[in-house]
Amino acid sequence: MEMIVTDNLSKTFKSGKNTVEAVKGVSLSVKKGEIFGFIGPNGAGKTTTMRMLTTLMPPSSGTASVVGYDLFRQPGRIREKIGYVSQKGGCYELATGYENMVLQGRLYGLSKAQAMENAKRLADVFRMNEYCFRKVSTYSGGQRRHIDLAMGVMHNPPLVFLDEPTTGLDPTSRANFWEHIRRLRDEGVTIFLTTHYLDESDSLCDTICIMDHGSVVAEGSSQELKRQIAGDIIEIGLNASDIEMASRLVSSLSGVKEVAAGEKTLKFYIDEGEKALPEILPLFVGGGIPILTVELRRPSLDEVFLKKTGYTIESAEGVEE
Ligand SMILES: Nc1ncnc2c1ncn2[C@@H]1O[C@H](COP(=O)(O)OP(=O)(O)O)[C@@H](O)[C@H]1O
Ligand SMILES: [Mg+2]
Repeated sequence: MEMIVTDNLSKTFKSGKNTVEAVKGVSLSVKKGEIFGFIGPNGAGKTTTMRMLTTLMPPSSGTASVVGYDLFRQPGRIREKIGYVSQKGGCYELATGYENMVLQGRLYGLSKAQAMENAKRLADVFRMNEYCFRKVSTYSGGQRRHIDLAMGVMHNPPLVFLDEPTTGLDPTSRANFWEHIRRLRDEGVTIFLTTHYLDESDSLCDTICIMDHGSVVAEGSSQELKRQIAGDIIEIGLNASDIEMASRLVSSLSGVKEVAAGEKTLKFYIDEGEKALPEILPLFVGGGIPILTVELRRPSLDEVFLKKTGYTIESAEGVEE
């Protein structure tokens, strides 16, 4: 079953003379029980898409169904069935994590007893007992994100939206957070998350959707996306004065694609890199070109992103946070 289906969903912001096409005709589908990752740099349109799907903002055009309900005609039904954790989170600083969870449950219409029971269960499941009876204002970033996540699932929704849940967390806290997201998925919850960490989408998401400038540029499993990159990548470090000659040498070899010369590196794609490399290196030695470093790697999601957008996600970051 599809938990989310969108067709040409778009959002244009108008303020005065300025028009921003934040989301330009996004069509996607999210299957029940998967972790679906929306990745892209700041400003790609991830949050805007999520805000439309969570009924917080009306689309400019297009259609969508969420948990089987029509986004335009049945927004109230959708709200009952989803959890949403925004980029900033929404805890009361002066209340404890536990109190925040109970309050959230009450807002979703749970009885007090039910809300308390769910909060206790989540404190166990997400291993929050050490801190969840202290005020939120005393929490670390990771502890806050855990409380945010717990608040989003207090009413046991079948679909949860998480906007940049791990941004700013240290690697250990991120890995810890992933474990809880995977657990929710294993309990049958569908997760729709956004991230600008490529390693996160690689290890966590069943389906990855790459978003750039308001459009989907690629969608599939990590494996499928990487398969779209033809071959392995070899990067050879050389003296700057040898780059031109080396580039000509490599370009003349069969099976070599997309030779890119840097100041002191030569990068190219080739099928079955581990077989090709032992044949290529002697050519350098024979041609009197000293090799300083050699790297052979399988395509990563960074490479997929670069190929689809023409730039690296890191280079697109830092504009706004
Ligand atoms: N309320 C708004 N008014 C005008 N422009 C907006 C508004 N909200 C978002 N935008 C613009 O839409 C684009 C997409 O933003 P957003 O969806 O927040 O991207 P992301 O979450 O991928 O970083 C950006 O250029 C942003 O400045
Ligand atoms: Mg965002």
